[in-house]
Amino acid sequence: MKNLLTKVVSAALIGAMGLALAGCAGSSNKLTVEDGKLIMATNAFFPPYEFYEGDKIVGIDQEIAAEVATRLGLELEIQDVEFDSIITGVQAGKYDIGCAGMTVTEDRLKSVNFTTPYATGIQVIIVADGSDIADADALIAGDYTVGVQQGTTGDIYMSDEVGDDRVERFNKGADAVLALTNGQVDAVVIDNEPANAFVEANEGLVILDTPYAVEDYAMCLNKDNEELLNKINDALKAMTDDGTIAAIIEKYIPSNG
Ligand code: ARG
Repeated sequence: MKNLLTKVVSAALIGAMGLALAGCAGSSNKLTVEDGKLIMATNAFFPPYEFYEGDKIVGIDQEIAAEVATRLGLELEIQDVEFDSIITGVQAGKYDIGCAGMTVTEDRLKSVNFTTPYATGIQVIIVADGSDIADADALIAGDYTVGVQQGTTGDIYMSDEVGDDRVERFNKGADAVLALTNGQVDAVVIDNEPANAFVEANEGLVILDTPYAVEDYAMCLNKDNEELLNKINDALKAMTDDGTIAAIIEKYIPSNG
């Protein structure tokens, strides 16, 4: 009897604690980190999704996030940080969203929520003109080194396929490309649109026409903020339906037709 009573009491206590906790979360439940603002973390060396024009960060992600913010009655603030600190910062409640041409992956979904995807990316392989690397299989099978941006899906896939020893990690995609032009690495694995921009800006590089992986880009949010997630998804849906997203993407990636 005493045992049963203890059990009942502790169950009641745990229940009450749960309620108290839920109450706390409820009362501190702000829509955004700072009232009236939508704080976006990005890594702004990823054209045409984010890049500097003078001292302003512009690009597809900036324009989509700015329009989302407007529709939510918020002011967009952009913080340029290392790519691999975006998710931890969102988890820590420093930023409302990570918006950085960020690929939705199973693994990242364990740490953050993702909005509905708003764009597609493709991992491609950049090599020096005349390289004997013809495709991903050749890159993986040979004894080649690969440059990647630290913490990106290119890094994750390559580390997995060829092992740490053959992967050189750089803070910026552009630095990986520079290493390729210097002959420090044999290839770079990176998203197709920045790849196009980097190859255009550097002579003697080519993108292999064997795409490596197709991915969805979405914004990431703290798992505890479903309210903001829903609001952003509603805005993204409206912006898809009224053509806003297509127009923004077309502005930066003109479909030559
Ligand atoms: N799509 C890749 C990923 O999510 C690369 C994104 C890099 N983005 C950036 N802004 N530097 O891992």
